[in-house]
Amino acid sequence: MITSKLPNVGTTIFTTMSQLAAETGALNLSQGFPDFNGPQALLDAVGQHVANGHNQYSPMTGLPALRQQVAAKIARSYGVSVDPDNEVTITPGATAAIFCAIQAVVRRGDEVIIFDPCYDSYAPSVELAGGRCVHVQLSLQGFALDFEKIKAALSPRTRMIVLNTPHNPTGALISRAELDQLADLIRDRDIYLLSDEVYEHLVFDGVPHVSVLA
Ligand SMILES: Cc1ncc(COP(=O)(O)O)c(C=O)c1O
Repeated sequence: MITSKLPNVGTTIFTTMSQLAAETGALNLSQGFPDFNGPQALLDAVGQHVANGHNQYSPMTGLPALRQQVAAKIARSYGVSVDPDNEVTITPGATAAIFCAIQAVVRRGDEVIIFDPCYDSYAPSVELAGGRCVHVQLSLQGFALDFEKIKAALSPRTRMIVLNTPHNPTGALISRAELDQLADLIRDRDIYLLSDEVYEHLVFDGVPHVSVLA
């Protein structure tokens, strides 16, 4: 028998609900399946490149041409210049990127502040790194950061704070003023800020997304 390293993590809510929806024929609003296919040009390009032999090992950090495109996209979106060779790493999705970032910096006994409710891969990633999650509830007023609670959660062992903006599941955005306030709190401390911005382009009401990188 293999003893689980994460005995408290059950089947994810996504699997449970999508299975239920399939079984009952319900409309599935529980997992982010678009009801349309990706852009044809993208699908064609992927097929073409795979057929043309671009289907082998890439450098560990990702193909240079792709890293350059990511850096150009960040510059276009946020006016921030990142070095494609030293500051961009390609991963197979955000969950893997988040996992790797947490494993890289969180050591046994470190504390990581995460805001509830949150994407359910954060806590197991912290636990597998030997860290401890300190859960901070988002404010019920617009799901904003609650700075009194953050101050109370910070300790000499805090190693990382995980942000998610635009937020799943509420859609709330963290404002520039909130980011400034957070920066004031952790400036000069050995704390990493991990910002999950996978929904950067899913913003409603014309309110701009503010990237931590910017
Ligand atoms: C906040 C958040 N981050 C990351 C992910 C997953 O990203 P990926 O599919 O690229 O691993 C999800 C998916 O639900 C999510 O809600």
